[in-house]
Amino acid sequence: MSNLSNKNIVLGVSGSIAAYKSAELIRRLQDSGASVKVVMTKSSVEFITPLTMQALSGNPVHTELLDEASERAMSHIELARWADILIIAPASANLIAKLSHGRADDLLTAVCLATSADILIAPAMNNQMWLNRATQKNISELKLMGHHVLAPEDGKQACGETGPGRMVETNQIISIANTLFSSGSLSGTKVLLTAGPTREPLDPIRYLSNYSSGKMGFALAEAARSAGAEVTLVTGPVSLLTPKYVVRHDIETAQDMLKACVEHASSCDIFICCAAVADYRPRRREPQKIKKNDATLNMEMMRNPDILSNITAQFEQIFSVGFAAETTNLIENAQQKLLKKKLDLIVANDVSDPEIGFDSDHNEVLLLWANGNEKLEQASKAIISKQIINRLALIYHENRS
Ligand code: PMT
Repeated sequence: MSNLSNKNIVLGVSGSIAAYKSAELIRRLQDSGASVKVVMTKSSVEFITPLTMQALSGNPVHTELLDEASERAMSHIELARWADILIIAPASANLIAKLSHGRADDLLTAVCLATSADILIAPAMNNQMWLNRATQKNISELKLMGHHVLAPEDGKQACGETGPGRMVETNQIISIANTLFSSGSLSGTKVLLTAGPTREPLDPIRYLSNYSSGKMGFALAEAARSAGAEVTLVTGPVSLLTPKYVVRHDIETAQDMLKACVEHASSCDIFICCAAVADYRPRRREPQKIKKNDATLNMEMMRNPDILSNITAQFEQIFSVGFAAETTNLIENAQQKLLKKKLDLIVANDVSDPEIGFDSDHNEVLLLWANGNEKLEQASKAIISKQIINRLALIYHENRS
């Protein structure tokens, strides 16, 4: 059964030629078992009529901020409370600009401001408008606010130009909306997760580390929790808030991380190792600040323990998930790690692209397991995490049945 079954969806439509696709979207959402109410901006009615949207959705279409027909004339509050999710498809450059500034001068922007539901935004516009720095800045702002943005596709546009700006297909909107609802697929399980970098001290004031921000691991912790798992998060130094109901342990070095993981692994069903653990540490931590006396400085390094391999070896019953952060030969290297570290699932992450991976809000990964694979297209780490957890839960239950 679809996660959208029995869900209330407000579909916001703004002024773009892609508005015709929202008619199809209504049908597809209803096929998934959802109820749909449509809110249209003034310019969107130039592209598709409210009558069409009303006939398809089976509900009155809302266009006015002050609506006499609604109880207390406050349809924005009623719709904001009714919605389990808000999907804005298409989202024009103007609407995106207004949302990013918290404007509420029409019904759709007012509903967005008044709702506590997730907001999924599918932009559609001319490629130059999309690439414009103002739009990109507004998009970054929306992501920071926690909204989910589905980057438009590249291709031939209605204006005759070619480039990024075409609204993603309805299939993708449905699939992402689906992942935003908890499936309860990990109910009753205990998940242990690592996140962030480790720091390996050189002297009292310096350390060896990497660019991991912890965003991916924290998003996974949130996704596992919202799928019903009890989550313990072992994290290196990051500046992120702990997701609600997640138990957090802060560590510094790889050795600390291993110790914390060993402590918790025996009571866990699933281990997800997302941390960027330093493979080496200085053999000796200098007790005093290292002075710059010579032109070069040689330091002897030694291997750190491999946390993932240690846990899979010591706790054979645990379902283990690793990451492979690669800059070359992504698939081959990930496959080798899957086998060598005896994993049930590996997340292959191409970290050569600065748009994804380390310290980015986005990711794009390939999941590999014994008898399958799945490509997860570029999306926010929140969305990628939900998709990883959905796949992980399927394999986990299949292996256990
Ligand atoms: O934190 P973000 O900024 O959001 O970035 C996310 C990320 C890029 C760090 C994340 O998506 C990611 O790819 N994590 C794995 C990083 C890594 O160290 O990969 P690896 O290929 O070197 O290691 C393979 C696996 O072994 C990983 O699961 C790693 O956690 C684990 N490992 C590695 C070394 C070690 N000593 N112990 C380990 O357990």
